Amino acid sequence: MRRTNLLFAFLFVIFASLITFNCTGGKKVMQIQPAKYSIVPKPQKLLEEPGQFVFNERTSLAFDKQLPKVGYVVDFIRDHFGLPMNFSFPKATQADSNVIVLKIDPSIKGPDGAYRLNISPQKIEINAPNARGLFYGIQTIRQLLPAAIESRDTVVGQEWTIPCAKIEDAPRFSYRGLHLDVGRHFFPVKFIKKYIDLIAFNKMDYFHWHLTEDQGWRIEIKKYPKLTQIGAWRKETQVGRGGRKPYIFDGERYGGYYTQDQIREIVDYAQKRFVTIIPEIEMPGHSLAALASYPWLGCTGGPYHVATKWGIYRAVYCPGKESTFKFLEDVLSEVIDLFPGKYIHIGGDECLKDSWKTCPYCQARIKKEGLKDEHELQSYFIRRIEKFLLSKGRYIIGWDEILEGGLAPQATVMSWRGEDGGIAAAKMHHDVIMTPTSFCYFDYYQADSAMQPLAIGGFLPMKKVYSYDPVPKELAPDEQKYILGAQGNVWTEYLLNSKYVEYMAFPRACALAEVVWTQKENKDWQDFLSRMQGIYKHLEAMNVNFFRGNVGDLIR
Ligand code: ACM
Ligand code: ZN
Repeated sequence: MRRTNLLFAFLFVIFASLITFNCTGGKKVMQIQPAKYSIVPKPQKLLEEPGQFVFNERTSLAFDKQLPKVGYVVDFIRDHFGLPMNFSFPKATQADSNVIVLKIDPSIKGPDGAYRLNISPQKIEINAPNARGLFYGIQTIRQLLPAAIESRDTVVGQEWTIPCAKIEDAPRFSYRGLHLDVGRHFFPVKFIKKYIDLIAFNKMDYFHWHLTEDQGWRIEIKKYPKLTQIGAWRKETQVGRGGRKPYIFDGERYGGYYTQDQIREIVDYAQKRFVTIIPEIEMPGHSLAALASYPWLGCTGGPYHVATKWGIYRAVYCPGKESTFKFLEDVLSEVIDLFPGKYIHIGGDECLKDSWKTCPYCQARIKKEGLKDEHELQSYFIRRIEKFLLSKGRYIIGWDEILEGGLAPQATVMSWRGEDGGIAAAKMHHDVIMTPTSFCYFDYYQADSAMQPLAIGGFLPMKKVYSYDPVPKELAPDEQKYILGAQGNVWTEYLLNSKYVEYMAFPRACALAEVVWTQKENKDWQDFLSRMQGIYKHLEAMNVNFFRGNVGDLIR
């Protein structure tokens, strides 16, 4: 008998040590408790209240049918909450139990997106000065509900509860962005919509759609059909990281593009979710796919081929020729017709200027315009495009290289090579979007590279994303207002398919969502992790292939 007890005790000790040590090397792991209010990004003010609201088949929704754009907010509730809710109109706002009431209240002040949410056992009230605020209030309720609401057919007959609270919420920054490169790899319309859904779920409001690259042109332009007949397709694709000689290729033709009808459909989809799409048409560099389609766009006249390797190329648009500007103005005119947002991103990064140095057209342009060098020629290029877009009521965004040779007068700068470009632009009173590689590049590894699928390099765990403050210390208080917000970038050289994009973007995008929404003093890493426990369940229910290896984040 004694021997059996000893054996049990021994086995218990072994078992206990196995569950308190993880397999990453015996470090202690703390259990993260799921938060009662699993809301990400964290609301500015949340007052816990006793009791709970119960959703059931008799829950009704009351709103003023006349309210502008509320239509989709209501459709969202119908589609996502899946309950056979009874939809009623103004007089039902008087109903005093088992009702969700949406109300526009112009007296609520604050940044665009502000809302107030009162959850009591009798009713849920969402008040906001506009439909965007109501939509964000709904996203908060969505996150508080069980994740099963994400799978729309399983809910009838359920009773779901959410804890009572009083919430006052509004975003810290007006620009809360996520980017996707569809040039290196192409992703179907269905996935683009899912990505937009995820942006909205995180209360982010911009989708930066990187549509043209050396390796593929992805937007149909009616006036220049070869852009998609030729430019959207590459002969083959490099396999693996490359850099080794000789390169290995897969030998398979690869490509795709979005038709203008598909783009209109996606723009409409995004608008309903209060997401603005910023299309990026790269220039003067990263333009080899365009040159392959129309070789007269380059300095030498070609021949050019859509790139099959990653990296940067010497073949770029020729700013010496008037025909280049005519082409770009035609392209941008079609882009403007498709995308109603204020901004058009014109790239501007990583433009090698070698061909300009030997091109007679480019040298003649430098002379005629009294430019000092090729950097000023790039600046001339960008300013000229800006002037055209301003004449159409649109504003340019460019990567921070557009500072070189002189910044275009109204340009917004996307600071990616660190924060210096953003700091310089803000000091010049230009708007800035922060997206430094060290905090915002979701193509970087998020865990030990030896254990991860191939990525571009770097190391950016979620905790580091979370630690980011987009306002640099170097800026004086009156300069800080030029920082509009921040963005996560998802370059896809190594992201071969949608599942891989999800893996790299999430949950790091959730951490960035909190960086751009929540006031700095309200951020708390441990608290974020406990709120993420509920969010992970929602992501799972949405079939998002997010990175689950944040065990490292649990180690104290
Ligand atoms: C960039 O990452 N080349 C903007
Ligand atoms: Zn030239």
